[in-house]
Amino acid sequence: MITKPSFTIHHSEHLLFQSSAGCCPIHVLSSIVLHIFASMNLRQLFLQHVAQTSTAPLAIEIVKAEGCTLWDGAGQPHIDLIGGISVANVGHRHPRVVKAIHDQLDAYMHVMVYGEFVQSPQVRYAQKLAANLPTSLNSVYFTNSGAEAVEGAMKLAKRVTGRTEIIAFDFSYHGSTQGALSILGDEYWRNAYRPLLPGIHHCTYNDFEMLDLIGPHTACVIAETVQAEGGIRPPSKEWLQALRQRCTETGTLLVLDEIQAGFGRTGKLWGFQHFEVVPDVLLLGKALGGGMPMGAFVAKRDLMMQLADNPVLGHITTFGGHPVCCAAGLAAFEALLEENMAAEVAAKEQLFRSLLVHPRINQVTSFGLWMAVWFDDFATNKSIIDACIEKGVVTDWFLFASNCLRISPPLTISEAEIRKACAVILECCEK
Ligand SMILES: Cc1ncc(COP(=O)(O)O)c(C=O)c1O
Repeated sequence: MITKPSFTIHHSEHLLFQSSAGCCPIHVLSSIVLHIFASMNLRQLFLQHVAQTSTAPLAIEIVKAEGCTLWDGAGQPHIDLIGGISVANVGHRHPRVVKAIHDQLDAYMHVMVYGEFVQSPQVRYAQKLAANLPTSLNSVYFTNSGAEAVEGAMKLAKRVTGRTEIIAFDFSYHGSTQGALSILGDEYWRNAYRPLLPGIHHCTYNDFEMLDLIGPHTACVIAETVQAEGGIRPPSKEWLQALRQRCTETGTLLVLDEIQAGFGRTGKLWGFQHFEVVPDVLLLGKALGGGMPMGAFVAKRDLMMQLADNPVLGHITTFGGHPVCCAAGLAAFEALLEENMAAEVAAKEQLFRSLLVHPRINQVTSFGLWMAVWFDDFATNKSIIDACIEKGVVTDWFLFASNCLRISPPLTISEAEIRKACAVILECCEK
């Protein structure tokens, strides 16, 4: 059972430390510190020393992850329905990924900032991505995270077009840095951090009227191919194609964020393939690293070269495209392709949908193995999420749809795991 930790340093331990500090030899002092640390469990230390992002973290202590299973500190297995939020597409610790990491560790780790040395894992991964993308997306800039890829793309769009304005969408999420936050589509999350970037306009997603706002001052339009955080909202094919056309007509770059949608999540390798459009800049992240931290923005080489000159070093990063991350990502990408993981996504999506039927479930929205289960409100959703976690199924809610339960498991999830996870969700709906 998962219990929420309550954090206190025992008063007596505090006093012992303070009264000893002035007179103890260092080895005695350190053994006291060790004693104190040993007497505090990991969760307490997590709450004290790891910066918190909410006042109620899940705080599940993970000791192992493999495939679609997480094991907690008590040795209990959990079915992972969120895959690190769409990261573990090929499953946790895929053997090819683990081997690639070991092999790269044996060769070299960090040697020089991105873009200076020829590092084989980087080159091979960029080439492999380009080979599996439309020919216009042939130059890959690797970053450390999705948000950094967003930052790079916004800079690239300004540089290429000489324009300053950016159009983004309500209900969009693109990351937490100041630039990414500026284009995030919800005032509640943005407002506390103003002033943000100027020249940003938020429009309604999937709305034809917004097309007229794209004009001679628009550097780029940034859209998630399928919006996730409002509860999985795909656009219509007609709208995305019209958006593509309007961007082309006005010389505006179309930036599609596939940081969640990419790497088979939607049932095709890339989300944009469903809509038969090709972006000018593609944003990748999450599953890109096979479990290691990575992001990337991908564009035509001619466009990308503008970051290399006048000024030189237009976008630089010390660790972006880290060789170990690239080796892991490349191995994951090869596994995804060679094991044809995207092919089973549609059938698995249908199985989830056929099982998730209950009077308390208002609807299920989905686009591949990427689903939102809608309840009346946050309180209902949260109580079901908590009950699921207690019963060994890990799930979560959505940023702009707190009444929705998130399902974005490893694509390798088995039929038996889907049936078991859905049975638990339905059981928790009964409470
Ligand atoms: C669609 C989308 N874009 C960008 C990001 C930001 O990625 P990162 O958290 O790696 O900075 C996320 C992260 O959740 C995302 O879902």
